[in-house]
Amino acid sequence: MKVLILETADTAQERVVSLIAQTMRDKPNAVLGLATGGTMLPVYEKLVALNKSGGPSFRDVTTFNLDEYVGLGPDHPQSYRSYMNDVLFGKVDINLQRTHLPRGDARNPEDEALRYEAAIAQCGGLDLQLLGLGHNGHIGFNEPTSSLKSRTRIKTLTKETRDANSRYFRADETIPTFAITMGVGTILDARHCLLLATGTQKADAVAAMIEGPLAAVCPASALQLHPKATIVIDMAAAAKLKLLDYYLHVHPDGTAREIV
Ligand code: F6R
Repeated sequence: MKVLILETADTAQERVVSLIAQTMRDKPNAVLGLATGGTMLPVYEKLVALNKSGGPSFRDVTTFNLDEYVGLGPDHPQSYRSYMNDVLFGKVDINLQRTHLPRGDARNPEDEALRYEAAIAQCGGLDLQLLGLGHNGHIGFNEPTSSLKSRTRIKTLTKETRDANSRYFRADETIPTFAITMGVGTILDARHCLLLATGTQKADAVAAMIEGPLAAVCPASALQLHPKATIVIDMAAAAKLKLLDYYLHVHPDGTAREIV
């Protein structure tokens, strides 16, 4: 695990953008796993700016998002498909046909999950999986106690997750109860996992993920098993790490050196 600690949220986001851009430069037809949520908004904003100012092209890139709410069709304003179209896909030179999210309005969500998992495999797997981190340690919508070997499937959202995401829904809208999410095992199959967490409210989950026991109660701790996991955090999110000085010594100012 590479733990890159940057001074501010802004510099942490920039580091993540440069790692994504590096993947796209190394492999112009990369398969990228993408995430949604508040943490990713400034990342996509910076990625769009980079793309527009001559940065790497999305023309041959394929994307698979982590998750989608069950019951929301792609045109629903709170669907993750709408989020991605609004903040990234509609603003860069990507071929929309190569952008994938589970269909939340599929007649049979279980079948849709299987189809999605197979589609990822058919594209040769994920070169880079971008991840945010839930306050409860979830990645994707793999809520605490998710099997660490799980594949894409339906998960019931916790009250905490529904409350945290209620800010995106109108007061008269019902927040979905279920989501289709890549499993922890699906995520671990990505050739590189890149997680971004910023802010003090993520400090407990960050500490559990990096220094806690490998445990289904903190699904993000499964990244401890991954041969190439890069964790990018700001000082606020790093506040509860016991080995903070060590990480800062190994990767001064968040620079990823190859010796870990
Ligand atoms: C969203 C996703 C979630 C979020 C997590 C953090 O696609 O997979 O795991 O990354 O809930 O959300 P924010 O960034 O809103 O705190």
